[in-house]
Amino acid sequence: MTNHAGKTLTSSGFYVSQEAPIHTDDPIATPVASPPDILRCAYMELVVTDLAASREFYVDVLGLYVTEEDDSAIYLRSTEEFIHHNLVLRKGELAAVAAFSYRVRTPEDLDRAVEFYTELGCDVRREADGFVKGIGDSVRVVDPLGFPYEFFHQSEHVERMSWRYDLHIPGELVRLDHFNQVTPDVPRAVRYMQDLGFRVTEDIQDGDGTVYAAWMRRKPTVHDTAMTGGDGPRMHHVCFATHEKHNILAICDKLGALRRSDAIERGPGRHGVSNAFYLYLRDPDGHRVEVYTQDYYTGDPDNPVVTWDVHDNQRRDWWGNPVVPSWYTDASLVLDLDGNPQPVRARTDSSEMAVTIGADGFSYTRPDEGEESMPEWKQGEYKLGHQL
Ligand SMILES: [Fe+2]
Repeated sequence: MTNHAGKTLTSSGFYVSQEAPIHTDDPIATPVASPPDILRCAYMELVVTDLAASREFYVDVLGLYVTEEDDSAIYLRSTEEFIHHNLVLRKGELAAVAAFSYRVRTPEDLDRAVEFYTELGCDVRREADGFVKGIGDSVRVVDPLGFPYEFFHQSEHVERMSWRYDLHIPGELVRLDHFNQVTPDVPRAVRYMQDLGFRVTEDIQDGDGTVYAAWMRRKPTVHDTAMTGGDGPRMHHVCFATHEKHNILAICDKLGALRRSDAIERGPGRHGVSNAFYLYLRDPDGHRVEVYTQDYYTGDPDNPVVTWDVHDNQRRDWWGNPVVPSWYTDASLVLDLDGNPQPVRARTDSSEMAVTIGADGFSYTRPDEGEESMPEWKQGEYKLGHQL
């Protein structure tokens, strides 16, 4: 069983502590320079191979608002957004992610970003007029984990569509909520992100201290990005929030009505981690999009860190539904600043899929009854090879 020394077991079955219980033996050196003051995840630039097909998915099906578009790119935003966009779809040969973009508090924070990443020895580029439409002075880097990160402050303001109920659809996407990144060494990634000013909200680990995933925030929600253990650097998903659960069910109904249910990869369901209601979709290029709602406030400085046991079958789905293998294995490539795909390094720590549904381990529902308590009829859902 998991060794949770120093943590407090809650009545909900997970553990809480004050300091993130994640330590690395292989840290990236902490820069002397101060990190930029990041406000929030702001937008993702996605390369898509068929702009018309992607427009149909993100605009006609999911209902994102078009701020601006031309023959090579579409700039989209969610209902509550007042900056130019939350998603850029750029036409290209290879489906991949060109930028994970964060908004910073002041223009001076861009100087801090340059100093911080220069000290880390990263490829750092600055564009006074922005790398994309609608965004001003911007810094792009390939970070120490291999991800293309962007920082900006200035953006054109556009109309917040919250009051335009005449345009809203049942599955309205109201905010960009978070990114999710795949990286081989989660503790190393967490340490670097802490240096960048992020705080850990939740994590999944085992009794040997292997960390399978960690959720980190700047804004006072569960996260702005998560680090998921796996072959990386790759992008696991980009996530938009709805106001309520029924909006997510409406998206499922709409996809069914359109005979597009094959776009649904996993869910709908309730997460254990984050407590949010969720749905995972795959866009026409296979990029994963999550729709998510009703996580919790995390803005107090002593917000407890939640730690889940990797063998708790309610960690990823509170109702105990198994995670489909593609959710663990598939992710999008990421690009360097010249548009070339970043090489992917294999994870060497054990994989979450292997320890939960692989041959070596069952999950449990009630920890005091152990891993043998799963009913025989349900074991097939969790152990690969048991399926009919
Ligand atoms: Fe997510």
